[in-house]
Amino acid sequence: MKVLIATQKPFAPAAVQGIRSILEKAGHEVSLLEKYETQEEFAAAVAAVNALIIRSDKVTEQILAAAPQLKLVVRAGAGYDNVDLEAATRRGVVVMNTPGQNANAVAELAIALMIYMYRTQFTPATGSEIQGKTLGIQAFGNVGRLVGAKAAALGMKVRALDPFLSDEAIRAGGAEPVHSLEELYASSDFVSLHIPATPQTVGSIGYDLLARMPKGGVLVNTARKEVIDEAGLARVLRERPDLRYVADVAPDSYAALREEFGLRIFATPKKMGAQTAEANVNAGLAAARQIVSYFESGDVRFQVNK
Ligand code: 3PG
Repeated sequence: MKVLIATQKPFAPAAVQGIRSILEKAGHEVSLLEKYETQEEFAAAVAAVNALIIRSDKVTEQILAAAPQLKLVVRAGAGYDNVDLEAATRRGVVVMNTPGQNANAVAELAIALMIYMYRTQFTPATGSEIQGKTLGIQAFGNVGRLVGAKAAALGMKVRALDPFLSDEAIRAGGAEPVHSLEELYASSDFVSLHIPATPQTVGSIGYDLLARMPKGGVLVNTARKEVIDEAGLARVLRERPDLRYVADVAPDSYAALREEFGLRIFATPKKMGAQTAEANVNAGLAAARQIVSYFESGDVRFQVNK
């Protein structure tokens, strides 16, 4: 089969090498498209491919239409809001992710961003310590659980909300269960977001929740920028000069927010949560193995468009 690795934001070379080696050993043919600039370039590269490995690359109806031989798309990572699942299903294309494989990298970044904000973005101004503070985790999946464990090791009190998990499961993951968003925000010095971008979550974090945070509250977003209601965020930052926002990937209105709120807001220039050599290797190799297993035995364990 012809497999294309299409990554606008390239994997570490060791990951590309590992992916190639797994796929070629199984008899597949591998090509690479990195740092492409337009969707047209991406579309031109998929014409003859049977499987795709992507990261946050956008697999739209247009891309799928340009790939008549495509059978499988593997998103090397967790979130698959960049893939048009309906269009893929309509065309009989299986879509998978590689859950958990890059989770540790994202969790480490979430902790780093918390400390960065509490240490006033590494300016000499007096900061605070995260030890003894309360962290509220919104969604206790692969990343959320790792953030919780690291935060607990740093002496934080950890609480979590996850409508898909029982209290026992949350406790087993080392956090105190919380049963409403209102309670989570009202009781947390930091709230760390680990929800996917879905029609239900897009724009769902805004004024009403953030205004409940205790004095000095920090919202940490290593999930997706789309889950934030940016107008609500600006309003609450304006009304509450003690609140702060830190994100992996800038909000659309970042320039204006930064100008108005200065060091109370920070965003990474490019999404970098999963950008470690380890995460690239883990997610990339898992993607390659899933492709081999799919074409060998029809293994659809990680399919997300069932
Ligand atoms: C994910 O959903 O796995 C992360 O957001 C990582 O995205 P990336 O592979 O584009 O860095």
